[in-house]
Amino acid sequence: MTTTTAPSRTPSAPPGPRRMHLAAHFPGVNNTTVWTGDRVGSQIDFASFEHLARTAERGRFDFFFLAEGLRLREHKGRIHDLDVMGRPEAVTVLSALAAVTDRLGLAATVSATFNEPYELARRLSTLDHLSGGRAAWNVVTTSDAFTGENFRRGGYLDHADRYVRAAEFVATARELWDSWPAGGTPRPVAHQGPHFSVRGEFTLPRSPQGHPVIIQAGDSAEGRDFAAATADVIFTRHSTLEAGREFYADVKGRLPAHGRDADALKIMPGVTFVLGDTAADAQERAATIRRQQVSPQNALVALEQVWGVDLSAYDPDGPLPDFDPVPDPRLAQGRVRIGDPKAVADRWRALSEAKGLSIRETVIETTGRQSFVGTPAAVAEEMAAFVAARAADGFILVPHLTPGGLDDFVDRVVPLLQERGVLRPEYEGATLRSHLGLPEPVRPAGKG
Ligand SMILES: Cc1cc2nc3c(=O)[nH]c(=O)nc-3n(C[C@H](O)[C@H](O)[C@H](O)COP(=O)(O)O)c2cc1C
Repeated sequence: MTTTTAPSRTPSAPPGPRRMHLAAHFPGVNNTTVWTGDRVGSQIDFASFEHLARTAERGRFDFFFLAEGLRLREHKGRIHDLDVMGRPEAVTVLSALAAVTDRLGLAATVSATFNEPYELARRLSTLDHLSGGRAAWNVVTTSDAFTGENFRRGGYLDHADRYVRAAEFVATARELWDSWPAGGTPRPVAHQGPHFSVRGEFTLPRSPQGHPVIIQAGDSAEGRDFAAATADVIFTRHSTLEAGREFYADVKGRLPAHGRDADALKIMPGVTFVLGDTAADAQERAATIRRQQVSPQNALVALEQVWGVDLSAYDPDGPLPDFDPVPDPRLAQGRVRIGDPKAVADRWRALSEAKGLSIRETVIETTGRQSFVGTPAAVAEEMAAFVAARAADGFILVPHLTPGGLDDFVDRVVPLLQERGVLRPEYEGATLRSHLGLPEPVRPAGKG
């Protein structure tokens, strides 16, 4: 494929501390969100999306981010409805948000495993036109055949083939985006590859960003290489300082092999935060939130996902099962796997015994954690330290309340980050590429 992203440096970055990039994640169905209480709205109403997006823009964030789930999750053969069910299609939501925001980038997660390049390139180009250059595509490869049953045209792709398809998908989309010369008529595209055959002219002129920003989420060596070759931003779960630094060095180290500069790919872990007026207050709130996230029923569900069998007779406030897991991948469907069940069970039992924890307390300790907990000043300082230590180029913030969970962060932490000079006081450009300090992709020679 043609490398279309030239080496970049942030052209307008003033001397001083490293600036961070920020994005806001609108949570879908997951165990990081609390879906009960006064400050919680709907996960589907436009009002929720609008509130969170406007708040992110008020905080001068780079972009607003939507994940994707293409099938309702199941647990023990029934639809899992302990958090919330259902989420709308991302590009459609972002098109509506383009009308009520002005500078904020709009990032849609869309699977490269279940779409067609011509059709998706068209939707994303349309979003880039409608928003004046604010579109981004988070390329995911979707990890389970259960989801694929909705899209079946034959066998499900194995792991390695999904990245082959994703690479050809993005390359084909880029050919389409590059096919309109400035002010001229479109050149026909004739792509013939193992996964796609595209012949004909693209329906849209080149969009304001040239190509929408490409984000990647997927953690294997293949995923990291795909990002190093192709993406502008990588969304990662490596959110502790140590794991973040390791991941950062690994991914940035893969860029030169693809002829790319270290600044060409921004690394943004997904993180959570809890604020308090004092450190103790913040810790107490964090503990309360974890108990809300892991209800007694959710604790048993988490346990069953590891043990692979019905454990509904167990008391969530009692001890863990004393037998080994009986792995059953069909017990929980549509969820990302958590690793080898026996190893997880051994770790959980050891922790539970060492600290005298019940089932629920063990799940609270082992599944998820709040990344930044403290006073606004402490959180601002810690976030800046992560960026200074090259554990991240910025963060994708995942609030635990929808849609009001970002308000306190923007009101109380953003001004402190701006005072420190680590967050832009105002938007400097109009497009998402300009927020990220990324140049417009160069058109391949002889094609523009
Ligand atoms: C941080 C992160 C976020 C992800 N978000 C999604 C998502 O929203 N939708 C989806 O279908 N897959 C999502 N994935 C799954 C990946 O696209 C991929 O299928 C999975 O991680 C397996 O690939 P890997 O072995 O390279 O990690 C995500 C993965 C990561 C690491």
